[in-house]
Amino acid sequence: MEVKNRIILALDVKTMERAFEVADAVSDYINTIKVGYPLALAEGLESISMIKEEFSSKIIADFKVADIPETNRKIADLTFEAGADAIIVHGFVGADSVTACMESADEHDKEVFLLTEMSHPGASAFLQPAAEHIAEMGVELGIKNYVAPATKINRLETIRNIVGKNAFIISPGVGAQGGETSSTLDFADAAIVGRSIYLSHDPKNTAKGIVDGIKL
Ligand code: XMP
Repeated sequence: MEVKNRIILALDVKTMERAFEVADAVSDYINTIKVGYPLALAEGLESISMIKEEFSSKIIADFKVADIPETNRKIADLTFEAGADAIIVHGFVGADSVTACMESADEHDKEVFLLTEMSHPGASAFLQPAAEHIAEMGVELGIKNYVAPATKINRLETIRNIVGKNAFIISPGVGAQGGETSSTLDFADAAIVGRSIYLSHDPKNTAKGIVDGIKL
């Protein structure tokens, strides 16, 4: 996936009105938007196609899919039919559940991102010990897109080493959670930024500042 300026906006606002304001403000700098549960539950799955059509942006649906294969398949089908270009899928549920999403992605000509380890402190309890196995499973399944944390650069580096230099890693945790853009982009292909932009008084300038600070 080609991500303009290597920055993805996490648009975790709860109204379409605010979503459009923020997406519009940053549209000179950002062409890839992550839509998650806050917006999709508040405004419906149509929020995906509405943003995509208005801003010609790519949409990554952050639904952290984590169910049995049959249910994962339905979630992925509905998400792709709603217009998402990619879906984020949890790896801890195992190869069969992940494969169900991959099959849906193949049929819709869309993409899967495999979530290995999360960015928040609590992830160290259960997910971190499994993260390397999850990344190895992704490689065995032939997955090319991964999510790994910007808040733990050593973990991001470890996951990069497992998935290889040709894999595409997106990394949340920059800004509000303490992650730093440049060091994240030493190991990730794109950084995900949410609150630092959408809670800013001037999202456009904030996005510009982040982009200007990157060694592209
Ligand atoms: P902030 O506001 O912290 O937003 O910049 C970060 C965004 O990324 C999501 N998030 C994650 N998504 N794996 C994911 O797939 C993770 O480890 C992870 N950590 C944060 C978060 O929900 C928000 O949208």
